[in-house]
Amino acid sequence: HVGALGMEINVDYIAVHGTDLSGRVLVERRVVFDAMGSTPDRAVRRLGLVAKEAVEAMRRAGSAPAGIAVAVPGLVDAARGVVTLAPNLYWRDLPLADRLTAMLGPLSVPVLVDNDANLAALGEYISGVAAGTSDLVYLTGEVGVGGGIISGGRLLRGADGFSGEVGHLRLDPNGDQCGCGRIGCWETKVGLAALVRTAMPEHAYGLPGMPVPDPGERVADIARGLASGDRRMMMAVAQVGEWLGLGGSILANLFNPRVIVIGGYFASLAQWLLPHAQDQLQRLAVAAPATECRFVASTFGFGAASRG
Ligand code: BGC
Ligand code: NA
Ligand code: ZN
Repeated sequence: HVGALGMEINVDYIAVHGTDLSGRVLVERRVVFDAMGSTPDRAVRRLGLVAKEAVEAMRRAGSAPAGIAVAVPGLVDAARGVVTLAPNLYWRDLPLADRLTAMLGPLSVPVLVDNDANLAALGEYISGVAAGTSDLVYLTGEVGVGGGIISGGRLLRGADGFSGEVGHLRLDPNGDQCGCGRIGCWETKVGLAALVRTAMPEHAYGLPGMPVPDPGERVADIARGLASGDRRMMMAVAQVGEWLGLGGSILANLFNPRVIVIGGYFASLAQWLLPHAQDQLQRLAVAAPATECRFVASTFGFGAASRG
């Protein structure tokens, strides 16, 4: 049977979702991989190996993938399969589709590359928490923060395919330097590195854009701290939650979404972040309360982009 293979590479993992054409999951995998701390060449080789293994696993499950879609945390020229810029992986003009196609060789499966948040937004729209909601924004909560915008039931791409780069909106002109080289980007306020810096200064990673060792474990630490009422962590999530709401209000003014779906670590810590974020959104969005725009946590965990 014909199937489809979705993959994602992010700063600290590679995710795989192989499905049949009805969306039934046949192969699912998450590989811990420090893409942020490795060279583009090593990352591409690792991604290619995981892709090969996934194609073989699909075949063992009785399905041949008609294509592979790879989600990456950066700006993508999807027509050419080139990653123009992935700020937190330090990739520039990387011809990812061609490189993977060459690695897959005789397996000869077509490769498509797209932005992680765009694909995650499609995943949520088709079968996630906001299924069928034709106006939604998806927010990636990783070291980087990305946006996928569905408006009137269509994914907004823009002139070059670079729309939705919400993580690099300059929200604080006096803020910190971002992985993209600019100052005060939204992701320096709400990205995982920012949260860890405030919640666990003893794990100080330096500036945003610096490698974050074991991000998944840090999120688990923070969740445990919050559950036991740790004051510093409470204050840190309150602060991040408010910045999340502030940025969300800008998206609400621009796109009038019904729902802002939050993924990644935002979803893991949703019960603590959301009250602050929602409050700020209501306060700042000009159309509130006339229009109801809610933050909602994704239920796909790390799998939103690869499913999309
Ligand atoms: C990138 C986006 C990406 C986001 C989440 C940002 O730093 O610029 O393209 O969607 O991180 O991975
Ligand atoms: Na995007
Ligand atoms: Zn930036």
